[in-house]
Amino acid sequence: MTIRSVITACGGYLPEKIVTNADMEKIVDTTDEWIQQRTGIKERHMAAADEKTSDMAIAAAKEALLHGSYKGEDIDGIIVATCTPDNTFPSIAIRVQDALDIPPGLAFDVQAVCSGFIYALSVANSFIQTGLARRILVIGAEKMTSILNWDDRATCVLFGDGAGAIVLEADEAAQGSLEDRGVLSTHLYANGHLKDLLYTTGGGTGNNDKPDHVMMEGRDVFRHAVQYMSDIVNEVLEHNHISPDDIDWLVPHQANIRIIEATAKKLDMSMDQVIVTVDRHGNTSAASIPLALNEAVRSGQVKQGDLLLMEALGAGLTWGAALVRF
Ligand code: COA
Repeated sequence: MTIRSVITACGGYLPEKIVTNADMEKIVDTTDEWIQQRTGIKERHMAAADEKTSDMAIAAAKEALLHGSYKGEDIDGIIVATCTPDNTFPSIAIRVQDALDIPPGLAFDVQAVCSGFIYALSVANSFIQTGLARRILVIGAEKMTSILNWDDRATCVLFGDGAGAIVLEADEAAQGSLEDRGVLSTHLYANGHLKDLLYTTGGGTGNNDKPDHVMMEGRDVFRHAVQYMSDIVNEVLEHNHISPDDIDWLVPHQANIRIIEATAKKLDMSMDQVIVTVDRHGNTSAASIPLALNEAVRSGQVKQGDLLLMEALGAGLTWGAALVRF
């Protein structure tokens, strides 16, 4: 018997406030042209001062439950990927459980920055395959604008806020083939030697006299992202004995259109087969893939039975990919 973890529902939430590149021009010495040329970003959403990561996670989770006609009592696990929790503890997952009246079951956060959703999906898939849970809410939620240095034009133009959620459910009738719906493989990596390329200055217990701001060696991150994404998509293809032609949609982490285009080129995929939200969302870190998936499902682009390749890279560096039959 093969148990597959099937994505049965999805949801998303974006804060009301939109900050355009023209707005960014008023904050730092930048131009719409520079931002669009280097990143593909036109605008991003920004949470209100009193809007927390948990508020966004709860809103996205609510929408996913509604989409799948689930009640809180149907869920037996919650895994939230975030690097911007409301507090050190309790986790965002605990806050979601409380808000949505989800009965006792596993609930915790995963911290792998922009790769967080792929890590959370992989953990949830393992739990389902080993029978630890049957129906898990997997959420990516971030308030990235709360950890930006608004004087640093090289980083503050890149990020946005939001949350995306899916319900991952056990299918015990799977055949163990590529045609099964569900998560077919996940691939996770990290290289701690590259920790100084992308990090925050404060937070936690290490440097708590400093403000918690994102710092990045953009060019080096870019170089590694292109290489690691190319390597990992090859690994997914080889592992599953498939060719790029078999993939219906690339659902990449939305950091930079040039990184996305390089991965699509490597796969010889037309950009028509790539879900792109970076132009409107900016980089929402762990929220970017579930938000992109949600949009693609709602718009009718991604349909049941489509083969999806998801991939992401983030601080750590961490990176990962998942092949999913939707
Ligand atoms: N507006 C205008 N000029 C800017 C700017 C901005 N917002 N940010 C940086 N610049 C300037 C720099 O000061 C530099 O000027 P100089 O040549 O006079 O010193 C010049 O633009 C080039 O900077 P550089 O950092 O080399 O640009 P780049 O071509 O590498 O593009 C990034 C910068 C951040 C867009 C790019 O490196 C990138 O996308 N990296 C990966 C980021 C990423 O994906 N991170 C998240 C991973 S999850």
